[in-house]
Amino acid sequence: MAFFKSATREVPDTRPVPRHVAIIMDGNGRWAKKRFLPRVAGHVKGVESVREIVRACIEQGVEYLTLFAFSSENWRRPAEEVSLLMQLFVTALQQEVEKLNRNGVRLRVIGDLSRFDTRLQELIRNAEAATAGNTRLHLTIAANYGGRWDILQAVNRLAAVAPDKAGSWTEADLEPYLSTHFAPEPDLFIRTGGEERISNFLLWQLAYAELHFTETLWPEFDAEALAAAIASYQRRERRFGRTSEQLTAQEPGAR
Ligand code: IPE
Ligand code: IPE
Ligand code: MG
Repeated sequence: MAFFKSATREVPDTRPVPRHVAIIMDGNGRWAKKRFLPRVAGHVKGVESVREIVRACIEQGVEYLTLFAFSSENWRRPAEEVSLLMQLFVTALQQEVEKLNRNGVRLRVIGDLSRFDTRLQELIRNAEAATAGNTRLHLTIAANYGGRWDILQAVNRLAAVAPDKAGSWTEADLEPYLSTHFAPEPDLFIRTGGEERISNFLLWQLAYAELHFTETLWPEFDAEALAAAIASYQRRERRFGRTSEQLTAQEPGAR
């Protein structure tokens, strides 16, 4: 199991290009509405943005890309929209796996998959297995994902394996059980569509992420918009609790 530095336990190494970008892809419905189209047309167009952003991340040298596709709260939407989103997910998985493989992309899906129908669960597992050898970009899709669910499932699994240590569990004990255990913590969080909230995304993992909110709707978010988000990230001073003076006293090149 890979272990990465936790932002709360030690100061992580930072680089000009974020290693891990996590995105709430929001605004599909509004994009469609502006064009007098059904909401699902926005979701269909949103899949094109996913393709473009995957490509752009590879070009920029981002190693981990985590995309929020369906939240545990999205079941509250009209049944028809939920079902169309599921169909879209199935088609995308069927169509994209070969291309992901050609581009060295490893796909993972995180979230409570037990609520999806068995055909979709099988497609997910197959796609994950088919791309398991790739290392160029780790693409993670959060589906039926909730940050609280993630923390709780981790606690429950830890409780099952280490009940004797209950009462003295540490962050380091819990982290291997989080659904993102294979990735460093996100450096850059992006939310498109203008809302400025986390909506139960990676609650634990975003502890020290730089937050970037943009009005751009997800179907219009392109390589240029990603580059602008990364440029904004590069202007931030990531202090991780220290003072600015401490940072400038550090060796040149370190940010
Ligand atoms: C994000 O777009 C996609 C999902 C949540 C599945 P929305 O569908 O939330 O689009 P808006 O926010 O209504 O514009
Ligand atoms: C968050 O978008 C979830 C995804 C992008 C999948 P929503 O559009 O569902 O978020 P809220 O409910 O408006 O916060
Ligand atoms: Mg929305």
